[in-house]
Amino acid sequence: MNIYVKKISEKDCACDVLVLPFTEGDRGPLKHLGPSIKAIIENTSPFEFQGKKNEVLLLQTAGDLRPKRLLLVGLGKKKEIVPETIRQAGGKALSFVRDIGFSKPALSTITLSDLKVSPAVFMEGGILALYRYDLYKSEKDTKEIKEMTILSTPSKSLSGELTEIKTLTRAVGLARDLVNTPANAMTPSHLAHTALALRKKGLSVSVLESADAEKLGMGAYLSVSRGSDEPPKFIVLEYKGGRKAPIVLIGKSVTFDSGGINIKPSDGLEKMKYDMAGGAAVLAVIKAVSELRLPVNLVGILPATENLPGGGATRPGDVVKAINGTTIEIINTDAEGRMTLADAIGYAKKFTPSAIIDIATLTGACAVAFGGDAVAMMGNDRRIMETMKQSGEFTNEKVWEMPLFDEYREYLKSDIADIKNIGGRTGSLVTSAKFLSEFAGETPWVHLDIAGTAWTEKDRPYTPKGASGIGVRLLFDVIRKIQ
Ligand code: BES
Ligand code: ZN
Ligand code: ZN
Repeated sequence: MNIYVKKISEKDCACDVLVLPFTEGDRGPLKHLGPSIKAIIENTSPFEFQGKKNEVLLLQTAGDLRPKRLLLVGLGKKKEIVPETIRQAGGKALSFVRDIGFSKPALSTITLSDLKVSPAVFMEGGILALYRYDLYKSEKDTKEIKEMTILSTPSKSLSGELTEIKTLTRAVGLARDLVNTPANAMTPSHLAHTALALRKKGLSVSVLESADAEKLGMGAYLSVSRGSDEPPKFIVLEYKGGRKAPIVLIGKSVTFDSGGINIKPSDGLEKMKYDMAGGAAVLAVIKAVSELRLPVNLVGILPATENLPGGGATRPGDVVKAINGTTIEIINTDAEGRMTLADAIGYAKKFTPSAIIDIATLTGACAVAFGGDAVAMMGNDRRIMETMKQSGEFTNEKVWEMPLFDEYREYLKSDIADIKNIGGRTGSLVTSAKFLSEFAGETPWVHLDIAGTAWTEKDRPYTPKGASGIGVRLLFDVIRKIQ
């Protein structure tokens, strides 16, 4: 979609639908709209449109107006409006416009400038809402918004904001595509190819093969891959844009999690293709950061593998050694994510990072506790965690902190090894992070569990059903703040 910014009046714009955001019960903006538009809107009753959050009303025009339709979109009560309100309204409005078959809408910015919110925020929600995954559909829905005009004075700052949201929303789209792709196509090798294709000046990518991982002593990561014929790929991306020690992002990249020998029940098993959503987010963030040339050094690690119960599979009770020498007794092969992350965190230390942030669909308990509306966070660095909370509020990828009390270490005591890979039935959201903290040691580290948020079962205002792309906007914002 092309986005234009033009200083023309609402009544003269060459669009097919004019989108008009309104706050609830406030018809003040009408006075700026000229007599023809004013008359049409004044003829509507409050039963048709009040301006409640995400309420829409489509109106026909006539006479001297160039737009043939007006679309009113509600923002709710003025004092309750936050950036998320505008993002959602953008999502609602643009998906509505597309679905009724129009392709060239325009956005009136009268209300938004009164609210002092940039139209880029509205566009962010709009573009995110238009995402669709139809690669495998023989008959594709051809309805598409081709161009969008923002009725506003062109400025450097607005065009900068638009460039940023275009890059970021494209990155979210990439993350969603990777996660929606079925696991027979989205193998560790395919993920590695996708990463390698991002290579350019300032962004290098390397892939460690199984033999390399073996040499490095990544027994924890490799234990997960043994039950599958798909070769594991340990993917490392390095972006150099700054001078300081890098931030390392690690994304869980289990391209399919059957549970292994502790095989999962069949209900919903098809969704375990989304167990690489953390890796998809990391890949997408690094792409966005490199395109927007943020002045930071960033490393992305995707320890990609499948978790299948083939003949060579790891058994419950097996003991393996991680890259840092820690021995791990595997009680449950379905707790495989932490095994891959343990070695990824150990490997990350080679970069002497200023911080390690991992993002993972790690526990069912996270989804049980928070549903689809919050990311669980644990870690050892107060400053980064507080920044993460702020970024979560700003992006509406909300995070909620859980404790990492010393007592939880007891849960992980093994009779025969240094640690076991699960802590029992209770407390599994926190014990999974406690397990990871053993490998992070003193390095500033934050863990995000996105098991509940990476996939949505229902359409949301700017997140269609399926992969949500969670973490991309959140991590981008955090990196910018802590760089
Ligand atoms: N990938 C799953 C976690 C998950 C569950 C993600 C549901 C998304 C939706 C993870 O590998 C897993 O199986 N975790 C187990 C750990 C248990 C064996 C301690 C779980 O949470 O049940
Ligand atoms: Zn699992
Ligand atoms: Zn898993």
